[in-house]
Amino acid sequence: MAGKILVLFAHPLLERSRANKALISAYQQHGACTFHDLYEEYPLFDVDIEREQQLLLEHDIIIWHHPLYWYSCPPLLKQWIDMVLTVGWAYGPGGTALRGKKLIQVITSGGSEAVYQHDGSNRYTIQEFLRPFEQTARLCKMQYLPPFVVHGTHRLDEATLLVFRVALGELLDSLHSDDHSATDWAQYPTIHHFLATRAAL
Ligand SMILES: Cc1cc2nc3c(=O)[nH]c(=O)nc-3n(C[C@H](O)[C@H](O)[C@H](O)COP(=O)(O)O)c2cc1C
Repeated sequence: MAGKILVLFAHPLLERSRANKALISAYQQHGACTFHDLYEEYPLFDVDIEREQQLLLEHDIIIWHHPLYWYSCPPLLKQWIDMVLTVGWAYGPGGTALRGKKLIQVITSGGSEAVYQHDGSNRYTIQEFLRPFEQTARLCKMQYLPPFVVHGTHRLDEATLLVFRVALGELLDSLHSDDHSATDWAQYPTIHHFLATRAAL
């Protein structure tokens, strides 16, 4: 069954963005994606809970797309999580609205892949920093897929950003067509480790 994809995008400084601006064009070119720019929708952080829950119900695959800010997400996405994932709806007794949906994070980081190693300056891997998000998804009975991570954004030239944008498009195709790669992906630390086995990343 073809899945509908909801992209919850959180970037407070999109006008100054290079990496994310390049990546999000993949969504705009993809027919199965609803692109939802949270800072555009809620500049005052007044998240419309009913509207957001309705959007979640209408989609099968949820993407949290954001730059890494202080090893986490920008504050509006945290506000969205705090407001929208309510007890009795998303988790807890009777909280089954999101059961079986897939959740994936698309992340950009200033730090290189090398610094996100146990012997690197950040001491932990990206997957370790993302554990609160992973467990949030699991508590809500969603299937948490390995993240799509673009590291070292400051040093990426336009050609490399284009390669990542194309890879993101490929990921969207896989998610949309539900070609069972979700099971294959689970064994990779990030989605682009998986994509690298199939394409020239
Ligand atoms: C407030 C702030 C906090 C940041 N925190 C981190 C961080 O914890 N780790 C990291 O690798 N990069 C960090 N960065 C760098 C951003 O992740 C990077 O600039 C962004 O991913 C680049 O994407 P863009 O060109 O779309 O803005 C931070 C940047 C800002 C502005």
